[in-house]
This record gives sequence, structure tokens and C-alpha cells, in this order.
Amino acid sequence: MPDTARIAVIGTGWWSTTAHIPALQANPNADLVALADIRADAVEKAARHFGVERTYTDVHEMLARERLDGVVIAVWHAAHYEAARPCLEQGLHTVLENHGGSPLRQQWIERLEELGLLDSPVAAAD
Ligand SMILES: NC(=O)c1ccc[n+]([C@@H]2O[C@H](COP(=O)([O-])OP(=O)(O)OC[C@H]3O[C@@H](n4cnc5c(N)ncnc54)[C@H](O)[C@@H]3O)[C@@H](O)[C@H]2O)c1
Repeated sequence: MPDTARIAVIGTGWWSTTAHIPALQANPNADLVALADIRADAVEKAARHFGVERTYTDVHEMLARERLDGVVIAVWHAAHYEAARPCLEQGLHTVLENHGGSPLRQQWIERLEELGLLDSPVAAAD
């Protein structure tokens, strides 16, 4: 991986715009290259505020177009799995605002097992 990691943020609601996006922009080792949110108004507002040029309302389209090293995901609980799955399947470093009480927990465990990621920090952080 080069010195600067190319990162996208998925979900541009309260927590991303409060914590993750400012933290990424303050990190000299991170390059925040794109934002995605299913709500066009939310992603455009965040992009204007933080000066991020590339925006998407479809995670799959973003993954197809962008050359990324990792993603930070802060979406509604019910969307954790659908947002994170394609990122993990593409082998991206993935930070997910997930927790033990989140729905679809068993689905997560089974899919991470299939991907051979259950012993990785992705799973261990839960
Ligand atoms: N670690 C912490 O201390 C902490 C603090 C606050 C929130 N969180 C977590 O962060 C996550 C987001 O919380 P929030 O308060 O920012 O919520 P929010 O409702 O403000 O923002 C969530 C955003 O996700 C978008 N979204 C939903 N489904 C999507 C999908 N499939 N693809 C792309 N975007 C999608 C929504 O349009 C919305 O803009 C939650 O899981 C929450 O528990 C963690």
C-alpha cells in the first residue's frame, strides 16, 4: 500500500460528518477520495461542506469506479450488512460502525466465516 491510503466514507449522516470525515481529513496518511449515501441530498451536502469532489448514491457504482484501499461505513443499523458486504468481498480494509446488538449479527458471522475473515480485526472489533 502507498504512504497515503485512499479511503471512501459510506453514509454521510450525523456520525460520519461529526467524527469520521473530519478525522480522515486531519490524517496525513489518509486521502478521502469519495463519499456515498443513498440520500443524494445528504451526500451532496457533506461533499460541499468538506470539499470532496466525487459522490455516489450507490455503493456498488462507487466500488466499480474508484480505486480504494479502504472504506469507513456509518449507515443505519439495518443497512450495515448490505453496505459492508461488497466492500469486504472486494478485499477492502473496512471500518464498520457495527456493534453486538446490531441486527443481522448471525448473517455477518456466517459471511465473515465464508470469506475467511473471522479471525481478522474486522471481526474481532465487534
Ligand atoms: N461509535 C460511536 O460512538 C457512534 C456514535 C454515533 C453513531 N454511531 C453509529 O454510526 C452509524 C450511523 O449513525 P448516524 O447517527 O450517523 O446515523 P444517520 O441516520 O445520521 O446517518 C446514516 C446515514 O446512512 C445513510 N444510509 C443508509 N443506508 C445506506 C446504504 N445502504 N448505503 C449508503 N448510505 C446509507 C443514510 O441515508 C444516512 O445519511 C450507526 O450504526 C450508529 O450506531 C456510532
